[in-house]
Amino acid sequence: MKTDYVGHDRAYQRRQNNPEYAGWMKHEELEEDWQLSWQPLMQKQGFPKQGKLLELGCGAGNISIYFAQAGYDVTGVDIAPTGINWATQNAAKANVNVRFIQGNVLNLTEIPDASFDIALDGRCLHCIIGGDRLLFLQTAHRILKPGGILIINTMCNYILATNNICNFDPKTCCTIHNDIATRYIGDSNDILQEIIEAKFRVLNAEVLPTRDDEVAELQVIAEKI
Ligand SMILES: C[S@@+](CC[C@H](N)C(=O)[O-])C[C@H]1O[C@@H](n2cnc3c(N)ncnc32)[C@H](O)[C@@H]1O
Repeated sequence: MKTDYVGHDRAYQRRQNNPEYAGWMKHEELEEDWQLSWQPLMQKQGFPKQGKLLELGCGAGNISIYFAQAGYDVTGVDIAPTGINWATQNAAKANVNVRFIQGNVLNLTEIPDASFDIALDGRCLHCIIGGDRLLFLQTAHRILKPGGILIINTMCNYILATNNICNFDPKTCCTIHNDIATRYIGDSNDILQEIIEAKFRVLNAEVLPTRDDEVAELQVIAEKI
């Protein structure tokens, strides 16, 4: 399947010129997302209370900034240069200290082994397709310290709606646009299996009910073994 990960940059270029957007999301969606999705995840057993956290796929940095404000030592990485630029500006505006780097989560050559306590999927794993998903998980494993924690927050369990607005292909469980696979929305059990195969022990896993009638969210806390 064809992929175009760096193509996400075009979305940031468009959104940066629209004052409604804070980054990937609109300002109004962002606070709700933090309260309904990330804050409850932080309260779950196994989520570290502090430490060096790397957000994989940080985009314009809004989630990284929230975690820094919550006391974590945060670095964000994203493949989209416009996203990283925007993230740097957002952190400066919020007066928060976060490092942002441009990089590909499939290798993260700029990040040494065993350098983080927490690898947090900033809803990037569902952008990663096919065999690349194992590379994502292996990279997260590599940059984590022994016993480090992987946090996954990813779309799952697509319900095929009558009007298939996001071009979901049930055979591959991917959304396809112009022949390019853009999202993997697989079965939550299959995603858990991928995480286990990449040598993580699952400490906590929950499927949150769908918020938009089509896609649920799988939240996982897993330990590097
Ligand atoms: C759904 S957006 C979420 C962005 C951000 N975490 C947020 O919540 O606002 C997914 C992000 O993953 C990034 N991404 C996709 N493929 C990537 C790759 N191979 N390496 C690094 N980042 C990638 C995209 O550029 C995009 O910013």
